[in-house]
Amino acid sequence: MEKLFINIKELVQVRSEAPQFVAGAQMNELPIIANAFLWIKDGLIKEYGSMDACPALTDMETIDATGRLVLPAWCDSHTHIVYAGNREGEFVDKIKGLSYEDIAQKGGGILNSTKVLANTSEDELYEQSKERLLGVMHEGTGAIEIKSGYGLTVDSELKMLRVIQRLKAEFNLPIKATFLGAHTIPEAYKNNKEGYLLLLTDVLLPEIKKENLADYIDVFCEKGYFSVEDTERLMQAGAALSIKAKIHVNQFNAIGGVAAGVKNNALSLDHLELINDEDITAIKDSKTMPVALPGCSFFLNIPYTPARKMIDADLPIALASDYNPGSAPSGNMNFAVAAACIKMKMTPEEAINAATINGAYAMGVEAEVGSITVGKKANLLLTDKVNSYHSLPYNFGSNLIDKVFISGEEFCK
Ligand code: NIG
Ligand code: FE
Repeated sequence: MEKLFINIKELVQVRSEAPQFVAGAQMNELPIIANAFLWIKDGLIKEYGSMDACPALTDMETIDATGRLVLPAWCDSHTHIVYAGNREGEFVDKIKGLSYEDIAQKGGGILNSTKVLANTSEDELYEQSKERLLGVMHEGTGAIEIKSGYGLTVDSELKMLRVIQRLKAEFNLPIKATFLGAHTIPEAYKNNKEGYLLLLTDVLLPEIKKENLADYIDVFCEKGYFSVEDTERLMQAGAALSIKAKIHVNQFNAIGGVAAGVKNNALSLDHLELINDEDITAIKDSKTMPVALPGCSFFLNIPYTPARKMIDADLPIALASDYNPGSAPSGNMNFAVAAACIKMKMTPEEAINAATINGAYAMGVEAEVGSITVGKKANLLLTDKVNSYHSLPYNFGSNLIDKVFISGEEFCK
């Protein structure tokens, strides 16, 4: 299979040697080639350059991209797309004034989704999750991380992880699975957190390792959920099985999870709606990627991750959707990019870097996707006719993506 894109108005995020991620001032550099060609062979990027150097290839499918842009597909490093049902009832409660914490205290929130999931068969859960995955791919996602965390029992957590495993087998995009058994304390262990932690570390983790069901381990490190001490214990239990951590931290309170995450070599620290100077110092010069989830801030009306302060302090940042039924029921990465520019004051260059190369790093797929680099997968976006890549965040809420390619094949929902 070979394909040639010609007359590309802007080929965006071109890296002859891709760095693992970009940080600080580098985030504002988005390399492009104007009037470019891109040659794809066997699902991979084979060659690219300016149209002046375009090889005369006549025997392959040629796509004329006059007036249009080609970018790497979005890399969404934080989602919870495997869930059952929805939480539209709570959405209305929220409009009427209840907060995320109020809803959780009434037995809603994560535990509401847990009840519905327990009564949903694995096949039905797969079907619902597959529809969401098809939806976000249509919106431009070309690599994704998916968490468990609405099971909270051995059977239901394994059910979720098996659904992710099935999505990995059925879909041709990089998918990473994260075990989030420590999402909240289930009803049955409400007065026995220690018992639940032991279930996670001594029963579930070894089984997950045996069946190779998770690439990462996650913990909701937050007041009323899991303490810094619990989080460290879970990260260490994961590390003992070579499962790295990606953790939910500083969503509502800064309780010290950031430093603990960096100390335990977490691959990413996600949310960070609140971040203090010590947190910034802890992340600086580490290999841990901070991940902002503007869809969650928008939906819950909570602060946005202070990206400007972080980038100005030389930190990297990635953007992800957090697609889940309670705090961000959308996986549209175009929205994440636009909200990052509009609400977090990131430049379009910073936001696109955050949603491609840095997103790929935050889920460990940076060698495969995230930039236009020879040998990486041809997971690409072809836009409509637009003025420049600034149009993507500027025309927020508009769908400017004409076609999505996964391993060089046009994706059809
Ligand atoms: O990333 N904060 C924890 N977990 C999810 C929300 C889960 C839910 O409400 O269903 C989040 O925001
Ligand atoms: Fe999340």
